[in-house]
Amino acid sequence: MQTIIGADIETAATYLRKEELVAIPTETVYGLAGNALSETAVIRIYEAKNRPRFNPLILHVPELSSIEKYAFADAVSRQLAEAFMPGPFTLLLPKKKIVPEMVTAGSDKVAIRIPDHTLTRSLLSTVGFPLAAPSANPFGYVSPTTAEHVLQGLNGRIPYILDGGPCQVGVESSIAEVNGNEVILHRAGGVTAEMIKQVTGLPVVTNAHTSTPSTPGQLKSHYATHIPLYKGNMHELMELFRDKKMAVISFTKSYPVAAGSKLFVLSPNGDMHEAARRLFATMRKIDSMDIDVILAEDFPDQGIGRAINDRLNRAQAVFK
Ligand code: TXA
Ligand code: MG
Repeated sequence: MQTIIGADIETAATYLRKEELVAIPTETVYGLAGNALSETAVIRIYEAKNRPRFNPLILHVPELSSIEKYAFADAVSRQLAEAFMPGPFTLLLPKKKIVPEMVTAGSDKVAIRIPDHTLTRSLLSTVGFPLAAPSANPFGYVSPTTAEHVLQGLNGRIPYILDGGPCQVGVESSIAEVNGNEVILHRAGGVTAEMIKQVTGLPVVTNAHTSTPSTPGQLKSHYATHIPLYKGNMHELMELFRDKKMAVISFTKSYPVAAGSKLFVLSPNGDMHEAARRLFATMRKIDSMDIDVILAEDFPDQGIGRAINDRLNRAQAVFK
């Protein structure tokens, strides 16, 4: 199968109507989309990504009024949806029957999101069915933030990549679930715990770093580069790996590196959103270089910095 990159909504819609897969741009990362109401299409998603079948998929819909077609939303969830959708925010809700079990991996809850990207929202309205879409990368690898990244991972496995330019947020959506009188934040992203607390007035509990995740995709080892990555105190790491060719990822600081090593400052002016936007592209670029280890700083643990820390922590090399 030949994979074509283009920006034509009709072409994308034609493939999707035939139960084939199309990579779609969103403001967070590119998604690997198929008709969520077609089991054939959904099976194709798991296969194209080599994704384990126990890991459910997010349902992408065009507008707020679509949510109630697929899920039951309580008052607080509706409040969250109105505040943060469209946007880098996914809500976990009790599903309605129409959502195939294949999408939710057997769970009675469905994750729903309205991506904030003009091309993809037009595509969703054009086809008239919701799109199931995980990030458009082979399972376990770094998520794609450009059409070119998608091609690198899925060339020959899907017919079409809808090119909507580089993703503006750069890390995957926050995943939240209202649970009685609290909100569980299952995955950190562009919508932060502080923002959720402000809108709902409820305490927000985080559910990160678990090895028995209730969002099954939150496995400890994920988003991993092929070159081993280590995160922590940069001076200690640089000392530990002083004989290696290293790629250093920092937020604002400039560290002196030896010849053959490379420094990547994600935002010299200290803009955390710029750092998030550049994170995955930087990890991918380093992965194609002649480098022995990737060393990453701890980012400020606030705002979208928490999402950056979360993704870098999961990308860390695991000693087996
Ligand atoms: O920003 C995003 O969310 C991107 C774009 C493409 O929308 N999508 C994305 O999908 O990151 P994926 O599949 O890489 O991550 C989805 C996460 C996984 O951790 C999965 O376990 C969780 O959402 N999830 C999806 N449906 C769920 C469900 N029914 N119950 C619990 N967790 C669910
Ligand atoms: Mg993913």
